[in-house]
Amino acid sequence: MSEARIPLISGNWKMHKNHFEAIQAVQKLHYRLGDAEVEDVVVTVHPPFTDLRSVQTLIESDRMDIVLGAQDCYWETEGAFTGEVSPTMLAKLDVAYVIVGHSERRQLFGETDESVNRKAVAVLAAGMTPIVCCGETLEEREAGDAESKVEGQIRAGLAGLSSAQVAGLVVAYEPIWAIGTGRTATSEDAQAMCAHIRSVVADGWSADAAASLRVQYGGSVKPGNIAELMSQADIDGALVGGASLEPDEFAAIVQFRQH
Ligand code: 13P
Repeated sequence: MSEARIPLISGNWKMHKNHFEAIQAVQKLHYRLGDAEVEDVVVTVHPPFTDLRSVQTLIESDRMDIVLGAQDCYWETEGAFTGEVSPTMLAKLDVAYVIVGHSERRQLFGETDESVNRKAVAVLAAGMTPIVCCGETLEEREAGDAESKVEGQIRAGLAGLSSAQVAGLVVAYEPIWAIGTGRTATSEDAQAMCAHIRSVVADGWSADAAASLRVQYGGSVKPGNIAELMSQADIDGALVGGASLEPDEFAAIVQFRQH
């Protein structure tokens, strides 16, 4: 792992926790992490939109070393787009990282590579960092199509971005069959795909972008498997779903070096 790629551990809460529960969870996480907490690790939490203001206020008032993230956004700044939230609204709340193209949004809400691309561009334009998700289905993996599927998602999702922009963003590799199933990719398979993502970026953008880009693994990450995943050369962090809802578990994942 290069010096610049500080590990990034992100908690995607999905549609869990109201704003009272969110405050409690972040307080507990901060307490569990302690002072030694987040040395050389960037920790982000991605609560539902309705929790963001409460969590922002808490992080700011207690000067927590926890970074605020969002789970999605729209690509326009403002306008007649009922129900949508803009990147600039998120940036105003000190949101620093925005997940785009999560497989649940692709599968359940019709997200396409094109909309993922527009969102990634808009998040960058608002001064935040996109976490661009990719990953194959079980059928695609079994058919030997996993690499080409992910390559297509990366090329289309990051289309039009400059090499410098790609260097600064995050790609999360989340094999769909490993999400919420308790079935993690082997660290070898996860490493192989994360290395593949880097080679796609080297080919499509530049060697510098490939070396600087942070690649997360996601899919049933737990305290018991994080250390081995993090020991892989091309895995720079994790996008954690279920285990991020429980502060004890999430803190143990953040402190993967102590395992
Ligand atoms: P789980 O950690 O619950 O498998 O979810 C992974 C995920 O989708 C994170 O975005």
